[in-house]
Amino acid sequence: MTVRVGVIGAGWIGKEHIRRLTDTITGARVTAVTDIDAARAAEAAPVGARVLPDGASVVAADDVDAVLVTSWGPTHAEHVLNAIAAGKPVFCEKPLATTAEDCLKIIEAEQAHGRRLVQVGFMRRYDAGYRQMKQVIESGRIGEPLIVHCAHRNPTVPESYTSAMAALDTAVHEVDVLRWLLDDEIVSTQVVTPRATGKRFEHLRDPQIMLFETAKGVRIDLEVFVNCQYGYDIQCEAVGEEGLVRLPDPAAVGVRSAGQHSTEVLTDWVGRFADAFDTEFREWIAAVDAGNEPTGPSAWDGYAATVITSATVEALESGRVIATDLKPRPTFYGGIA
Ligand SMILES: NC(=O)c1ccc[n+]([C@@H]2O[C@H](COP(=O)([O-])OP(=O)(O)OC[C@H]3O[C@@H](n4cnc5c(N)ncnc54)[C@H](O)[C@@H]3O)[C@@H](O)[C@H]2O)c1
Repeated sequence: MTVRVGVIGAGWIGKEHIRRLTDTITGARVTAVTDIDAARAAEAAPVGARVLPDGASVVAADDVDAVLVTSWGPTHAEHVLNAIAAGKPVFCEKPLATTAEDCLKIIEAEQAHGRRLVQVGFMRRYDAGYRQMKQVIESGRIGEPLIVHCAHRNPTVPESYTSAMAALDTAVHEVDVLRWLLDDEIVSTQVVTPRATGKRFEHLRDPQIMLFETAKGVRIDLEVFVNCQYGYDIQCEAVGEEGLVRLPDPAAVGVRSAGQHSTEVLTDWVGRFADAFDTEFREWIAAVDAGNEPTGPSAWDGYAATVITSATVEALESGRVIATDLKPRPTFYGGIA
């Protein structure tokens, strides 16, 4: 069968996912698109898809089996709650919602519905390298994880990027993937700021070093450096009692030329995670098509990410260690993280 998808938000990532569902993935078709900018929706809608006036009409449409939310973060909760009320599967780009209160409303609504409908767009769980890391950790080959060293580096960011976005928009991906990799919860967060780079806009704290502690006592250090100049570089190394496992760099040929041996460093995140996005959607569509609950990041994971990244902003602003203070995890969402 073909899963008919309605898209709310036809901006940068909305268009990317429409292209993905139309040209890359089999088994899905975009049948409805909306955006508060109607011209943008019309431009993004593939042949045969209707442009609808708002998110509510996309959710209600008879020819929409599943909903994709790619609008601005503060609008996500409303669309996700509408989809749950209609009993339709919904894929929501991160963040699930921008406040813990809105995330909890979604969690309550989903539990009242009785089965999982929500998947949140944390695509790193679909990256081949992270998946291999998880297999190694679960196999026990490195023993119990003790420390994780991470870096998230972007070449530059625009002037609109704020110090809080280092946690809310950048580190949020590490927060999700580390909870999943370690099957452990982040219980406290702290931020220390080294000497600031001269390559930043004046208002920005860059780089930042985030220090997380998990319930099992694992310590995570994450360098977020968004004006590193040289490339888009994601590093992750988990150190265990008996060994370590490291995220591989993206495949790149080695070049020997002009007296040098070099390999390219990527400069944008789109290329780094393109395959992960494809896999993420392939697996989501397969689950929807089979009538199964989604297997990817849940509304609970979306809630945890919002709480932990908001606490990290508080840690940056206060200079203190902040407890993440998550509610007890409902059994509805299984596992530890
Ligand atoms: N997973 C990832 O790595 C990743 C990457 C990029 C963006 N995102 C997330 O995707 C979301 C969108 O990001 P973007 O870069 O595409 O932003 P964008 O500004 O390019 O696009 C957002 C679009 O949503 C529309 N919109 C806003 N509110 C709406 C509403 N209520 N109904 C319908 N349309 C509405 C806007 O007009 C705009 O066209 C954000 O939450 C962002 O954090 C995730």
